[in-house]
Amino acid sequence: MKIYHNTLPHLLLYTSPKKTTHKEIFGRMSRPTVTSSFPATVAVALAVVQLVILIVPSTVVEARTKTIPADSSKLDEWIAHNMREYNDRKGNETGVKALDRRLAKAEDGVRLIIVRKDGRGNFTTITKAIESIPSGNRRRVVVWIGGGIYREKITIEASKPFVTLYGQKGKRPMITFDATASEFGTVKSATVAVESDYFVAVNLAFVNSAPMPELGGTGGQAVAMRISGDKAAFHECHFIGFQDTLCDDRGRHFFKDCYIQGTVDFIFGNGKSLYLKTTINSVAEGTGVITAQAREEATDDSGFTFAYCNITGTGNTYLGRAWKERTRVVFAYTYMGNLINTEGWSDKMHGSKPRKSMYYGEYKCMGPGATPLGRVNYARILSDEEAKAFLSMTYIQGNKWLLPPPDLSFSRSQPNFFH
Ligand SMILES: *[C@@H]1O[C@H](CO)[C@@H](O)[C@H](O)[C@H]1NC(C)=O
Ligand SMILES: *[C@@H]1O[C@H](CO)[C@@H](O)[C@H](O)[C@H]1NC(C)=O
Ligand SMILES: *[C@@H]1O[C@H](CO)[C@@H](O)[C@H](O)[C@H]1NC(C)=O
Repeated sequence: MKIYHNTLPHLLLYTSPKKTTHKEIFGRMSRPTVTSSFPATVAVALAVVQLVILIVPSTVVEARTKTIPADSSKLDEWIAHNMREYNDRKGNETGVKALDRRLAKAEDGVRLIIVRKDGRGNFTTITKAIESIPSGNRRRVVVWIGGGIYREKITIEASKPFVTLYGQKGKRPMITFDATASEFGTVKSATVAVESDYFVAVNLAFVNSAPMPELGGTGGQAVAMRISGDKAAFHECHFIGFQDTLCDDRGRHFFKDCYIQGTVDFIFGNGKSLYLKTTINSVAEGTGVITAQAREEATDDSGFTFAYCNITGTGNTYLGRAWKERTRVVFAYTYMGNLINTEGWSDKMHGSKPRKSMYYGEYKCMGPGATPLGRVNYARILSDEEAKAFLSMTYIQGNKWLLPPPDLSFSRSQPNFFH
């Protein structure tokens, strides 16, 4: 795929940009809210869909509104369609092809920073590369990371949006640390924490190498990645840990072709996310739990959707347990190995009283773990109509901000950088 084909010749090597203040950038930026009530969002989405059907040609309608196809052979086409190139959309400030305007501006002059352990790049650590990005950054900065193991604990602050971490093709660099909850608190234990918007990661492994927590012990939670910014995408990334591996904290997120490994609550938080074609691997030795989604208020518009995922591994594993009152998780078109407990879900957390308002849905899943026999009575086997709201790009408003990862496999001007 020739992504950003036309912009590549303009790809600028990183040079210190004109200083801009935080206020200049963020004064105008209203942080997108993720708080509207779910039914209202759906109603608005449906209204938009109807409007769109009236005013635009049908091929475009299809791209924007079609739900994730039931035919798996059409999935890649659907993804490509829904993640069109920047050049296909820039200049369109209105209409269905419109890209979030701040994002379009940021993508117009991509800057590149090279991180290599062998010293042939701009920096030898990712930490230094991130430090070099100015607060109030408003252009896309691609941090290309050469193969190897980076023992670093990294935070990308909210003042540094538009950062892409791009791992060398064929080498999948690993960022690893071993902080735990007992020392840092769960949330701050993350090896990589991203608090800024418009973050992208491609082909990286995020690892927390702290040991598997003792059964019944406390403080052993150890996060590999925490994503707290809005409009973030992860492509071909691995998330490796035991308890609390991936903190999908808040904001809208997209995961594709990823691999997430853990034991208990290993995908948790209050994010609103779509996980596609992702392998979810439990390494639990006893009870395992995949999700602990933290939706709490009725007005809170968060939830996790998994589509075309593959659940593998060990343990007596639940799809989710109800961390907060209105926890919301849907699995669709997903293969579930026999590690999944026949009950499927748990409405309790740490011996709490059963929750009453959780939303746990399953739609057209496969495999021995997907059998509806034995499921708890509050598990919802979704109808086509019910599933729809969870199975389109509209769920995360991806049409406004989701772009394909940049293709850095070639560069005419700098032929040796990426090999
Ligand atoms: C804007 O989008 C329309 C279709 O919605 C398309 O025909 C047109 O070429 C686009 N303009 C640019 C500059 O990409
Ligand atoms: C980054 O490294 C490249 C290649 O060595 C060099 O051309 C460029 O000037 C460096 N940029 C900075 C900011 O050092
Ligand atoms: C799921 O992953 C397992 C283990 O890698 C593999 O053997 C199996 O084919 C996968 N199933 C699907 C449906 O992708």
